[in-house]
Amino acid sequence: MDVILQPAPALTWRTIGGILDFYVFLGPDPASVIEQYVEVIGYPAMPIYWALGYHLCRWGYHTSNSTWEVVKSLRNYRIPQDVQWNDIDYMDQFLDFTFDSTKFGTLPDLVKDLHAHDQRYVMILDPGISSVQPDGSYWPYDEGLRRDVFIKDAEGKTLIGKVWPGLTAYPDFSDDVTHEWWHENLQRFHEKVPFDGLWIDMNEPSNFLDGSTNGCPSSSLENPPYTPGILGGLLRAKTVCATAQQKQSIHYNMHSLYGLMEAKASASALKRIVAKRPFVISRSTFPSQGMYSGHWLGDNRSQWKDMYTSIAGILTFNLLGIPLVGADICGFSEEPQEELCVRWTQLGAFYPFTRNHNAIDMKPQDPTAFSPLARTAMKQALLLRYSLYPVLYTLFHHAHVHGHTVARPIMFEFPKDVKTYGIDKQFLWGKSLLVTPVLDPGVDYVDGYFPEGLWYDYYTGDSLHSKGEDLRLHAPLDKINLHLREGSITPTQAPNLTLWVSSGQPLHLVSALSDDGSASGDLFWDDGESIDTYENNLYSYIIFNVTQNVMTSQVLHSNVEATYITVETAAFYGVKQKPSRVLLNSQDAAFTYRANQLTVGELSLLNKGVYHIIKHKYSQCC
Ligand code: NOJ
Repeated sequence: MDVILQPAPALTWRTIGGILDFYVFLGPDPASVIEQYVEVIGYPAMPIYWALGYHLCRWGYHTSNSTWEVVKSLRNYRIPQDVQWNDIDYMDQFLDFTFDSTKFGTLPDLVKDLHAHDQRYVMILDPGISSVQPDGSYWPYDEGLRRDVFIKDAEGKTLIGKVWPGLTAYPDFSDDVTHEWWHENLQRFHEKVPFDGLWIDMNEPSNFLDGSTNGCPSSSLENPPYTPGILGGLLRAKTVCATAQQKQSIHYNMHSLYGLMEAKASASALKRIVAKRPFVISRSTFPSQGMYSGHWLGDNRSQWKDMYTSIAGILTFNLLGIPLVGADICGFSEEPQEELCVRWTQLGAFYPFTRNHNAIDMKPQDPTAFSPLARTAMKQALLLRYSLYPVLYTLFHHAHVHGHTVARPIMFEFPKDVKTYGIDKQFLWGKSLLVTPVLDPGVDYVDGYFPEGLWYDYYTGDSLHSKGEDLRLHAPLDKINLHLREGSITPTQAPNLTLWVSSGQPLHLVSALSDDGSASGDLFWDDGESIDTYENNLYSYIIFNVTQNVMTSQVLHSNVEATYITVETAAFYGVKQKPSRVLLNSQDAAFTYRANQLTVGELSLLNKGVYHIIKHKYSQCC
């Protein structure tokens, strides 16, 4: 299908067949359109907590020991990291469900060590299963043939293409038998390497040949009267034949669903194996895939332009119901300048899915590969992300339950302000946290648009009143600009090196008061990893409110087992006069006041043992 955007404005659609279901989502505003769309296609899964941590990957860690060295080096510099990944390097001759016992002999120990440090391990899998191993030596292929799981050519023989391991057959994920076989393969491998999540790549499905080793038959399906504007100008270009046969239909009808069905098989297998929320990241996606996986935006380059265009990609996938999305931080191919990698790490700290990934033969680009200045700036950006985990996790809850976006275009919150429509260099987390990254080299400032209203600098609490203006902000190399919208309460935490540790820290609530002194916010909290906690009532949900100098929190839903968190401190931005007293549950509480900012501390101590999430009330008197 071609979809062409006309200047009119109008869209031209040209499709060469298939079953066409049309839905019209009336909104009326952009955010409601997306909620309605996501209600139809399926709500995105609630991610496991560590999915929101920092992920480090590359193609070209040549051994498990060199992978391990990088992990240790990050620990040494106390840089947060939740997840270490491996690309195809770990496999024996690029065969799925194997690992190279010479170069990756210590892989099981590396995974054990990650677990001992509350870290996780994710490895790549490609769908192509080698078809040329000696008989009886490669269970995935032998057993796959026995169970008849592979896609067939038009004549009914196993279709053979070519990917990293050489000649390969392609599992037909439209068949339940294949799901079972995929699960058993994963289960067997998990007994050797207890991985935590899966990276599914090359699942368009990708083929180094066009069609198959035998090409494709000539037919109207292979050569339709009109071919959409696709890579190679042929339906079979770099994939399997349109006439290939799958259980549910011919590949012509199933092509775009390959990644979706593989993601579904992978997520359900992982769920059975680890008995926790499955973590899957897929290259190919289709509507409804947010229920099973997240997505990375594929192979980009280490260029400023690619960093800039990643924002539109991230926002797009949030509109498509796949909020767990990120681009390869610092760029995949080519080598980034240090400055680019710092700026990209700052922006990437605000991708819903944060992974640094690099191509083979490129110089290392993990934070420890750079100068102390750059390394420190990257560490700071990641710590900032970790401190914002409570708000990020709550946003994912709203995506899961209501179809909200996590990373959000500014226009969604200000649909009446036409100046926001074209903004693709800034974005929001939820409705109130405005991110203004530096996207250009050699500058220590950034221009950003501020919709009408009162905004607060996240770090200093300084306020700015915008009439709907472009403003120039100071942005030295170690800073990403963040602003809080008036009327919001943001739950944060002291960050640590993993989200497991961070998420046990008490909350610090930041209230950004509107002109009339009010603000509100919320928190969704559970154990971070059990399946369906919302559906099974194993969560807590709290709303925070400030009005007329009184802050209250209301526990709308509580589950003590899932709620071990306390509130320790609260900051109020926009308090116009120094209060003479601050009362906490009717008792005097210590506070500091400076330039419109009130901070109240040690709340949890005063409330210890009352509630796990504390009902509290502070009033400022005059
Ligand atoms: C293509 C993927 O897009 C890339 O991220 C990966 O590193 C290579 N395949 C090698 O597996």
